[in-house]
Amino acid sequence: MHLFAFLSLIISISGQIMKPEFFEKNRQTCAKVAKNPYFDIDMVVGKPWRIYYTWNLKLDTKCLDMVIKNATRGTIKRIWADMNEYLEQQPTWEAATLHMTMGSAKHEVLLFADNGPAGAFLAVPNVIRDANINPLRKAVPLLKFQMKLLREGKFLLLMDCHVGGASLSAWSDHPPYRSEIAAEAATLNIGDGYPACTKEKNKEEQFFVK
Ligand SMILES: *[C@@H]1O[C@H](CO)[C@@H](O)[C@H](O)[C@H]1NC(C)=O
Repeated sequence: MHLFAFLSLIISISGQIMKPEFFEKNRQTCAKVAKNPYFDIDMVVGKPWRIYYTWNLKLDTKCLDMVIKNATRGTIKRIWADMNEYLEQQPTWEAATLHMTMGSAKHEVLLFADNGPAGAFLAVPNVIRDANINPLRKAVPLLKFQMKLLREGKFLLLMDCHVGGASLSAWSDHPPYRSEIAAEAATLNIGDGYPACTKEKNKEEQFFVK
């Protein structure tokens, strides 16, 4: 399950029951994250990012990795073929910049640089590849993400601006200390969050906190 995509989809389908204030609050949090933006494609592509902290979703002991790559023509074509008839609106397909996979490589999103601050993206979740989701034609909304590099690129914050799900990650080959993650999360001050991947230990440090 691609958590953000899945959440967004559920919420948009059940959109009637969500209060407008819910979306407004998430929009404002995204705007807050987007202040002093810092994002550089060359610093995010390549090695896996491991999620160590989340907001509005809980992973607990689960360790989830994300891999971000430059979007290739082949990838764009494949995701277009899977998704174009299911999207509410079409993105400018040829302008896709990044391709992100999460967990098992079956869960993927294609990212398009959005107007506004660096790190703002529109995203097409490939829910067709997720097999257990069968959307109606023209029913899947484009997602809106805000990404931000923190601490000179040591951490990556990714936030879904509709549903409010967010994650804080670090390179999986450079696991941070739990205390650093907690400090960074506290500085961000974007709501109630939860440590993730809680069984992993960094050297001698007991990684488990809460
Ligand atoms: C990805 O694309 C950026 C420009 O958008 C480029 O600077 C970078 O070298 C590319 N990286 C790889 C690994 O192809």
